[in-house]
Amino acid sequence: MKLHNFNSGPSILPQPVLEEASKAIIDFNGTGLSILEIGHRTAWFQEVLQEAISSVKKLMQLNDDYEVLFLHGGATTQFMQVPMNLLDTEDTAAYCDNGIWGSKAAKEAALFGHVNIVSSTSDKQYTYIDKQFITPDNAKYLHITTNNTVEGTQWHQYPETLVPLVADMSSDIFSRPVDFQKFSLIYAGAQKNMGAAGVNLVVVKKEILGKISRSIPTIMNYQKHIEAGSLMNTPPVFAVYVSMLTLRWILAEGGLVEMEKRTLAKSSLLYNTLDSLPVFHPTVAKEDRSQMNAVFFLSDKTLETPFLDLCKQEGMIGVKGYRTVGGVRVSMYNALPLESVQAFCQLMEYFASRKG
Ligand SMILES: Cc1ncc(COP(=O)(O)O)c(C=O)c1O
Repeated sequence: MKLHNFNSGPSILPQPVLEEASKAIIDFNGTGLSILEIGHRTAWFQEVLQEAISSVKKLMQLNDDYEVLFLHGGATTQFMQVPMNLLDTEDTAAYCDNGIWGSKAAKEAALFGHVNIVSSTSDKQYTYIDKQFITPDNAKYLHITTNNTVEGTQWHQYPETLVPLVADMSSDIFSRPVDFQKFSLIYAGAQKNMGAAGVNLVVVKKEILGKISRSIPTIMNYQKHIEAGSLMNTPPVFAVYVSMLTLRWILAEGGLVEMEKRTLAKSSLLYNTLDSLPVFHPTVAKEDRSQMNAVFFLSDKTLETPFLDLCKQEGMIGVKGYRTVGGVRVSMYNALPLESVQAFCQLMEYFASRKG
């Protein structure tokens, strides 16, 4: 049976990336050594890292004001590393609380300074994005989560603000062309659109660094990582390598314009099907729907388990909603083929014809 991988992360990767990475585990580029065996300071790994960095710069069209880092950890590490580098104890940071991940980020920031939740959509279970909030001028930065993986909402137009904009782009990075230079800091765990778990991409505008008086542990200090060229200590070599291959694949396939075209084809098919079948119950505000993670419910709650059972039986992997939300979540990251969404929609229609 053909499997369709809708996992929310770690998630589906492009087949050519998997093939290349498996070859490299045995013999990296004809060196006779595995990618897992080469030193991180060798010219071999330098080439990998430099290609990864230059691919990010190319895809994001960044100017020299920005640095690209590949750092250990997941996005959760950045929840703490961002405020540690940008906030002094008496400073205030503004956070948008639009979902579980943004809320966790704000909680971590409160360990380092004051947090002003300038907007929260928890009143309606995070089913929409509030765009009518005001960011105080004295905030050191405004933090948003561009795509709420768990709740299925996404910013389609970023907030205008005079303070530096910081974004967790973990679940929609490289899915569409964006004016990345609107942001002063962008971070993303690699394990959705960019590669294997274990590495974070951090893109930082240099001018926002070096403005606080707190002592920052060396391994947490962005400035020190910039000086060391992402090689302060042993980086997650294999995870960086897989990111490099995935970035190479995105470029070869036509870059972010092409990724967006594919994303729109998949998400519009899914949402059109969803809206046409009353047996399903979408709760996210239409204008804020995520193009990466579609979250919805069954109109009759007792049909949830039968639908999820049918999905399992038909090889639809990873479509059960997040444990605190329930329902169904269909993740449509870059590497997911349109055929998988077509197969899922056919299954929805089949289910509706039996139970609707
Ligand atoms: C938007 C977002 N931020 C943060 C995280 C946490 O990432 P990690 O598990 O890499 O720490 C996730 C995980 O799915 C996410 O989707």
